[in-house]
Amino acid sequence: MSAPSESTGSVSPGSTGRVSLTGIKPSGEPHLGNLLGAIRPALRLAEEYDSMYFIADYHALTSIRDPELKRHYTRSVAATWMAAGLDPERTTFYLQSDVPETFELTWIMSCVTGKGLMNRAHAYKAARDRNVEAGEEPDAGINMGLYNYPVLMAVDILIMETDVVPVGKDQVQHVEYAADIAGSFNHLYGDHYTFKIPRAIVPEGPAETLPGLDGRKMSKSYDNTIPLFLPENKLKKLVRRIPTDSTPVEDPKDPDGAAVFQILEQVAPASAADVVADTRKRLEAGGMGWGEVKNVLFEVLNTELAPMRERYDALMEPGSELDDALARGAERARARAGRVLSAARRAVGIS
Ligand code: ADP
Ligand code: TRP
Repeated sequence: MSAPSESTGSVSPGSTGRVSLTGIKPSGEPHLGNLLGAIRPALRLAEEYDSMYFIADYHALTSIRDPELKRHYTRSVAATWMAAGLDPERTTFYLQSDVPETFELTWIMSCVTGKGLMNRAHAYKAARDRNVEAGEEPDAGINMGLYNYPVLMAVDILIMETDVVPVGKDQVQHVEYAADIAGSFNHLYGDHYTFKIPRAIVPEGPAETLPGLDGRKMSKSYDNTIPLFLPENKLKKLVRRIPTDSTPVEDPKDPDGAAVFQILEQVAPASAADVVADTRKRLEAGGMGWGEVKNVLFEVLNTELAPMRERYDALMEPGSELDDALARGAERARARAGRVLSAARRAVGIS
């Protein structure tokens, strides 16, 4: 027997029947890298797929210990999605913690997942390597949440019968694990229920890695981010702080070697393409200083972010339309997850 046919039912009005799903872990203030590398590509996919986008709040529990901060980041990531244009009528938009079916299925899937697979997961291996380098016990400070993280993520994906998962390069292994874990289940119980096998979609081109203030990948872990919703004066100060070399104003400069120009090139919308081209030309010819490039970057950024900032601030207010959107999303997500969980329970012989 295969999956009950209603389990592939519509998730949103105007359903295409193919699902794009992704989650963002609320473990810090959303930054420009998240917007360009994750949120915007996912919103573009929402035009051709049934989309299910959520906040992976239980995933953040592996590292965020302060309950107030946790609530703040969760709301902040949710508000960012909507400020960036997510339409909750079109996208099923929800909190992971509002779909408790996920956690029941996580146990079922843990029982078909090899421990060796988890030992090889990048995030866990990186945490061990850091310990060994520091002369600590390899597993020092590593909680079981971090170790089991890929199983929970696999279930987020599988429980919604996902076709594609838009993620950054660093998350591709996790999506491959989801496919592996689904394969193990299907191998054992495929006569009773088969999970759909998902695949990752990675945004191509420069948006894959937006550099941060110091030229390394923009990341919370490097403390080099441009948070999305800073007040204007703070945004200006931050842009001013981007390190540049001391080449004199008159000298020709290499735009591609400078974080300030790389960021400008990636954030500028099509409407600012000539500003970028002109900046490049003037830098290469000599006669333009880095200070002026920073002014250009600030203007472009502020024009992009100001309308979003206003919407974000309104959504962050308690009782805003965000709450209503998440409640409706949770209902739709739970209905879908419930059907898959019931089918998986029956397949393994529970109930
Ligand atoms: P961080 O590195 O700041 O902890 P996350 O790992 O929480 O960011 O990333 C959430 C999403 O944003 C992922 O899909 C990731 O690929 C994307 N992302 C994060 N930083 C960047 C960046 N510098 N350039 C492009 N995409 C990014
Ligand atoms: N692990 C992802 C990250 O750190 C967040 C995440 C959790 C996710 N569950 C997911 C992403 C399911 C895609 C699909 O960014």
